[in-house]
Amino acid sequence: MIFTCQPGFVDLLAGELRARGYAPVEQGPGWVRTEANPAAPEVPDLCFPQMVLLDPVEITGDSVNALAAKITEQFLTTAKSDRFEAEWPCLFEEAAELDGLGRRVKGVEKMVYENLKKRMARVAKLAVVTKPRGVARVRGLYVFFVDFKRAYVSREAIFGGQRRMADDEQAPSRSYLKIEEAYIVLGREPQFEETVADLGAAPGGWSYSASKRGAKIVAVDNGPLKGGAYNNYKIEHRMEDAFAFRPAPGQVFDWMFCDLVEEPHHVVENLITPWLANKWCRRFVVILKFGRVDPLALLAEMRAPESVFSRCGVNVRIRHLYHDREEFTLVGEVKE
Ligand SMILES: C[S@@+](CC[C@H](N)C(=O)[O-])C[C@H]1O[C@@H](n2cnc3c(N)ncnc32)[C@H](O)[C@@H]1O
Repeated sequence: MIFTCQPGFVDLLAGELRARGYAPVEQGPGWVRTEANPAAPEVPDLCFPQMVLLDPVEITGDSVNALAAKITEQFLTTAKSDRFEAEWPCLFEEAAELDGLGRRVKGVEKMVYENLKKRMARVAKLAVVTKPRGVARVRGLYVFFVDFKRAYVSREAIFGGQRRMADDEQAPSRSYLKIEEAYIVLGREPQFEETVADLGAAPGGWSYSASKRGAKIVAVDNGPLKGGAYNNYKIEHRMEDAFAFRPAPGQVFDWMFCDLVEEPHHVVENLITPWLANKWCRRFVVILKFGRVDPLALLAEMRAPESVFSRCGVNVRIRHLYHDREEFTLVGEVKE
């Protein structure tokens, strides 16, 4: 299998895969290739991979023409029993940091598309170059170039839901992009009049994002709100300590957001645990910074059966988002 991730996080991806029983055999900037794990034929929910190519076939060639011809043949041979009735993803990607590789891949992609148009015009017309939205396992044509002469071709891929988000000039921080991306991983976003407790809110990117959807937000932070979050009638700013903030008696927030630059165990023990165990919210988006702790150990702790996320959460997903740096994002719902 081929697993892709943010280019600077490939060692963590390889570590996560080893911990889940996949033996890495090769890695490069933004990708790891492993053997299948016979003990776990279904790929589990993982944190670092953005895309997993299932059963990839290695293709080598010296020229754009040769590579395109082999990829086309691989597709045609494996597409015989497929029914193409709706749009299907046709994605070409490449390892990061190899100068000029992107241009070459574009050339191969164009030629494969021309080949398909000649051989299967109707099917070619249905090809789209966009990633499926959300967490999904989808058949298509996936080509990943590890260098100029070698690519892996797969007909099925799993997507972790990460994607690059569009910025908003009113958004007061880059964090805005993370919450927008987190909604996609969770498969849900705040709705009109839903309530949000945003703990560690300033300068207000997450509050602003929820306010755009018509939600009502309590933004807890001693720092000032800025940009589109400042003087926003949907946002009530409380200059309080996020660890001490509690809902009113009987109140349940639809959402709890937490984005504190604090030691992650402290955040989990003293903030997340009371919120989830007491069901003070229905859904959550939490960022845990791993700059000062071992990220893989933290990941294992959060996934363990005794963790508060396992005990009190459902549909919990832990992701290294496209917009995350040294941090994980956890999304999920609180068990009824
Ligand atoms: C990474 S920023 C949050 C960015 C925010 N999510 C956004 O979209 O703009 C972290 C914030 O947590 C706040 N913070 C840290 N400890 C806090 C605490 N104990 N109570 C309230 N806010 C806290 C900081 O003041 C800072 O504004």
